[in-house]
Amino acid sequence: MPSRLVDVLLERRILVCVGSGGVGKTTTAATLALAAARRGKKTLVLTIDPARRLANSLGLSSLGHAVQEVDRALVHHHAPSKSGELHAMMLDQKQAFDEVVARHAKDPEAVKRILANPVYAQISGSLAGAQEYAAMAKLHDFDRAGAYDLIIVDTPPTAHALDFLDAPRKLSEAIDSPAIEWFRKLQGQGGSRWSIVGKTGSFVIKRLSKFVGTKFLDDLSVFFTEFNDILGGFKQRAEETFALLRQPRVGFLLVASPEPMAVREALAFHDRLVSAGMPFVGFVVNKIYNPRPVQTSVAQLETALAAQPQIVSLGLSGTTRTMAAQALFNAHGELETLAAADATAIAKLRAVAGPTAAFVEVPLQRDDVHDVERLVALEKFLLA
Ligand SMILES: Nc1ncnc2c1ncn2[C@@H]1O[C@H](COP(=O)(O)OP(=O)(O)O)[C@@H](O)[C@H]1O
Ligand SMILES: [Mg+2]
Repeated sequence: MPSRLVDVLLERRILVCVGSGGVGKTTTAATLALAAARRGKKTLVLTIDPARRLANSLGLSSLGHAVQEVDRALVHHHAPSKSGELHAMMLDQKQAFDEVVARHAKDPEAVKRILANPVYAQISGSLAGAQEYAAMAKLHDFDRAGAYDLIIVDTPPTAHALDFLDAPRKLSEAIDSPAIEWFRKLQGQGGSRWSIVGKTGSFVIKRLSKFVGTKFLDDLSVFFTEFNDILGGFKQRAEETFALLRQPRVGFLLVASPEPMAVREALAFHDRLVSAGMPFVGFVVNKIYNPRPVQTSVAQLETALAAQPQIVSLGLSGTTRTMAAQALFNAHGELETLAAADATAIAKLRAVAGPTAAFVEVPLQRDDVHDVERLVALEKFLLA
């Protein structure tokens, strides 16, 4: 029997929402966190990129990188339990990454040097995998502190969902690349800093420093050397986090939309989770178009039109009524095509979900989902 998402929510301690960009990860994470809080859980949602209006309605507007409790009156309004709490944090990637650096640097002086290094300031926001890494490190901290019954993690808006699991490797690769290795070798040679790079090297350095200045080159090599020192700590932590994510108290919820790209990515991610031994708990297929198509014919539509008092009062001729029925039939056909495409996508996902995973379909809403009321409205689909 497929499990119900409400049970997943009440039994697991960490729920990670993954999927490609724009499918509804942030919305799903917020909805489920609110739903858990409304059922009595002390819940934390670790969100990455909430739409401004959603952040505002959760009380996150001005807070940035700090945990903030969502107004209890809002959470408990018509809720099944009045004892839950919803806490939310909008992860500031730069700050989270600074924290990781601070934890692994060899001493407070090194932390100061790295954070003040202009090269670090430039690249820490754009280093491959840094955002994903920072999010996971933060999760790890919160899990250790043990202050919440349930932590729901939203994942960054990476172009490809798989990037998320690859983050620690990407980060190390970015730092271990040959170009960076070369710069790193420049450092730590005392007075003759640039001598080890050889004749060609020092020629290049001379020319380079004409453009960027030796100060910049020094910053660069100092940065990569210091960063190299903390990389061991990074890797160890990544491994610990990986181990944490494999535990049965964790659940990975794959969010997809019926769009072909999102389905492909969801299938690939599912493969990846299963082969990595990560606890996959289910699919949420979001933004489904017209989930229940109605079979009909021109003749049926014409009969239906003829039975409508408003249509009768128009006094249309038989031919006009047939034409109207035909136009309606054509429009309806287009809707059915869209709905059929969605049904095909859903069937593909269902086929791989397996018999015990949760499988939830959420219809496309008329509006964006940006306030607590709309989150509560989505809850009934997610927990159905
Ligand atoms: N079921 C839905 N119907 C209509 N709009 C939705 C639905 N789910 C999410 N949205 C909207 O789609 C946009 C992207 O959702 P979001 O949760 O931010 O996606 P992601 O975090 O995966 O990038 C948001 O504007 C959100 O309000
Ligand atoms: Mg998002």
